[in-house]
Amino acid sequence: MTTKWWQSGVIYQVYPRSFYDNDGDGVGDLNGIAAKLPYLEALGVDAIWISPIFPSPMADFGYDVSNYTGVDPIFGTLDDFRALLAGAHGRGIRVILDYVPNHSSSEHPWFIESRSSRVNDKRDWYIWRDPAPDGGPPNNWRSVFGGSAWTLDPATGQYYYHAFLNEQPDLNWRKPAVREAMFDALRFWLDLGVDGFRIDVIWHLMKDQELRNNPPNQEPRRAKSPYYELLPIYSCDQPEIHELIAAMRALADGYDGDRVLIGEIYLPIDKLITYYGPEGEGIHLPYNFQLIRLPWEARTIAAAVDAYEALLPDFAWPNWVLGNHDKPRIASRAGAAQARVAAMLLITLRGTPTIYYGDELGMRDVPIPPELEQDPFGKNVPGRGLGRDPVRTPMQWSNAAHAGFTTATPWLPVADDYRTFNVESEESDPASMLTLLRRLLALRREQPALHAGAYSSVAASGDVVAYVRKDESSLFLIVLNLGPAPAVFDLPSRELHGRIVLSTFLDRDGEAVNDALSLRGDEGVIVRLG
Ligand code: NOJ
Repeated sequence: MTTKWWQSGVIYQVYPRSFYDNDGDGVGDLNGIAAKLPYLEALGVDAIWISPIFPSPMADFGYDVSNYTGVDPIFGTLDDFRALLAGAHGRGIRVILDYVPNHSSSEHPWFIESRSSRVNDKRDWYIWRDPAPDGGPPNNWRSVFGGSAWTLDPATGQYYYHAFLNEQPDLNWRKPAVREAMFDALRFWLDLGVDGFRIDVIWHLMKDQELRNNPPNQEPRRAKSPYYELLPIYSCDQPEIHELIAAMRALADGYDGDRVLIGEIYLPIDKLITYYGPEGEGIHLPYNFQLIRLPWEARTIAAAVDAYEALLPDFAWPNWVLGNHDKPRIASRAGAAQARVAAMLLITLRGTPTIYYGDELGMRDVPIPPELEQDPFGKNVPGRGLGRDPVRTPMQWSNAAHAGFTTATPWLPVADDYRTFNVESEESDPASMLTLLRRLLALRREQPALHAGAYSSVAASGDVVAYVRKDESSLFLIVLNLGPAPAVFDLPSRELHGRIVLSTFLDRDGEAVNDALSLRGDEGVIVRLG
């Protein structure tokens, strides 16, 4: 099978504030990313997705955009971006930007105009409504970041809608002029040569035209955040979204070079797959967050992989994500030993994997003292552990001061354990997590069965997950022990014959396997069969 780069390739997410600070102000920047391209090339990734770099008041660290076609000075200049793009392309690394279409910053000139008067041309570029009869908000919709999703603008006496912060007013995508202006922004970056977009909260773009109240959520399990005390069935995932996405896709397809669209979508998989479009004319990769959301438990994970594989239509290419800038890191969720097993799973499942920066080192969530807290989510909804700063701490480059991330005080504190977990030490350690990731990525790239082959699950029990990947010429068996106790895996239907090509412990290369396979606790192996 011939695959496109975004199918066979591996994506690496860079959170630019935290990757590498080149200009010594404590915040990462574009020149910092450019300086680390050799590292990314050696790691073996095919593309980087960079979280937003556009001009922004930084109320939500770049997810509040005040100009869709520029670069924020904290990150550098447009020329710096051009240089980064050229440098990345020169090393065979594609660049994916983070497009934030659901909302702009309240300081975007469009919103400033929109709020200036009820009769302004841009009034309906955003979602304005009269107060309810009691003077309160127009409906019960909540902000993901706490409180009502409506803020009253006293000057004009109406409320505006914001799914996130009140500094992030939602754009009105039902208005053709908004669509045109926002599509122009896509064209701007595509013309410059970017390889695609990760599209922020794409399932939020269309809201119920009548703005009906969201019903209460009967499942208290989901209500860790007050937002989920209601089910957001009218404020997101509306049927009209699919026509809009198809138009974005047509725009991207009008360019050469297989530009990719990736949608950030937190929905159950039966809904998620509708974002591919009925015949594949939707998003190339609707992000599949099951490995982030589910408990790290063998039977749950195995069942989730199989359910997703079974549900995907033929034209739909799968994808897997273990972590991102919004969710706890895998090494904290599953523990250091299991983070290695998880990496083997991520890289050997069928579909495009996305690696979150630092996860290749085993970086953990870093507790942030309240006085250093930055994230508006954590500040708005205190005491529930929802703040995202712990997963956004500086990349650990070396055991120098501030982990070699900056010469200044970093914008968030560096992990205490950075002297153990950092690029420099792990590069020279043949048993490190970084060495494991490099080996996994090299193997995946070199073996078509692993980047393009078919998947089928293999029966396993207890803490063990097993599956095969195969193409015409080779067959790989992947066996993962998601528990701490040793396990023996018998391949039931066929004689198990082969050689281990990789263990998560990095010490069993070439070992012959006959009939039964013994695994240590927290060990995963890839066996080449035949
Ligand atoms: C999802 C992004 O990943 C998150 O970081 C951001 O706060 C919200 N969307 C709002 O843009």
